[in-house]
Amino acid sequence: MLEIKNLSVSFSADSDVLAVQDVTLTLPDKGRIALVGETGSGKSVLLLAVMCLLAKNAVVTGEVLLNGEDILKMNRKQLDKIRGALISYVPQGGGASLNPLMRVGEQVGEPLVEHQGWDKKDSVAKSVEVMKTLNMGNEEELAASYPHTFSGGMRQRAMIAMGIIAGSKILLADEPSKGLDEERVSLVVDSLNRLTEQSLLCVTHDLMFASRISDHICVLYSAAQVEFASTEEILNDPLHPYTRDMVKAIPENGMIVDNVGFAPSHDDFGKGGCRYKHRCKDCTAKCSEMPPLFDVGDRKVRCWLYEDKN
Ligand SMILES: Nc1ncnc2c1ncn2[C@@H]1O[C@H](COP(=O)(O)OP(=O)(O)OP(=O)(O)O)[C@@H](O)[C@H]1O
Ligand code: SF4
Ligand SMILES: [Mg+2]
Repeated sequence: MLEIKNLSVSFSADSDVLAVQDVTLTLPDKGRIALVGETGSGKSVLLLAVMCLLAKNAVVTGEVLLNGEDILKMNRKQLDKIRGALISYVPQGGGASLNPLMRVGEQVGEPLVEHQGWDKKDSVAKSVEVMKTLNMGNEEELAASYPHTFSGGMRQRAMIAMGIIAGSKILLADEPSKGLDEERVSLVVDSLNRLTEQSLLCVTHDLMFASRISDHICVLYSAAQVEFASTEEILNDPLHPYTRDMVKAIPENGMIVDNVGFAPSHDDFGKGGCRYKHRCKDCTAKCSEMPPLFDVGDRKVRCWLYEDKN
């Protein structure tokens, strides 16, 4: 189980601006959470903070408990031990980082050779097995191929295979569908949905993609967590005004995009009040104060409209 508690990130050179503000999230065993938000809302920084992979100028506060132990307090040796084995990470655009000179099977199997002392031949055989669980097709042939023969979707799936090969039960994936056509997105969805033994925390800006791979959705706006609810509730009964605007902007819902699709402006990052107040139709004087995350049943919403609904 992964528990993120009151996680905030700023960068020392620009410390009055938070890149992630007060995110609290529990990823249960075999849970599947999509982290959704516009560009610049803090999605990648959040995953990097969880993996302790942020640049040195990052100031991270809060807790990230992996089976009860705080990852943020671990030293390099402890981190090396858990990364890949307990928790793994597929970075944004990760498919592009495959080594063009190395066969895919060797690369997918590399974590076993590097961290668990496996023989290279056995690691390639294991990579074929893992690619089969992801339903990649012609897996032996794929393992013997070089990455340039792979489509973007296949590269993403190879990265997912690499993420889980060393036994990790928690996969963090950053925008695995970005830049892919509909057919390839479906293949990535299929592979992610075959991860029935793992839990998944997956970043995406695409709510429809999120709906296909998650059981819960956490919505970020301008660094702040604004809503957390089941995927069904987010799509059918969104509560936060930003989530409502985002759901209206789905093509199936008529693509009413008056408030969505823009990166948060500098004003939205300002310290005073609700981050969405410059765009929100329900804004009142109270909104010049930052709302806390209110519990509404099993859901969480950061908006004054829900103050009395606790
Ligand atoms: N090393 C850094 N130093 C200073 N600011 C940073 C650094 N890395 C990220 N940021 C800032 O943190 C904020 C969140 O960035 P992040 O990359 O997490 O956004 P994102 O939601 O992943 O966006 P996208 O959808 O475009 O990938 C942005 O304002 C970004 O400029
Ligand atoms: S707190 Fe106020 S400004 Fe912010 S989303 Fe709610 S109603 Fe709108
Ligand atoms: Mg990102």
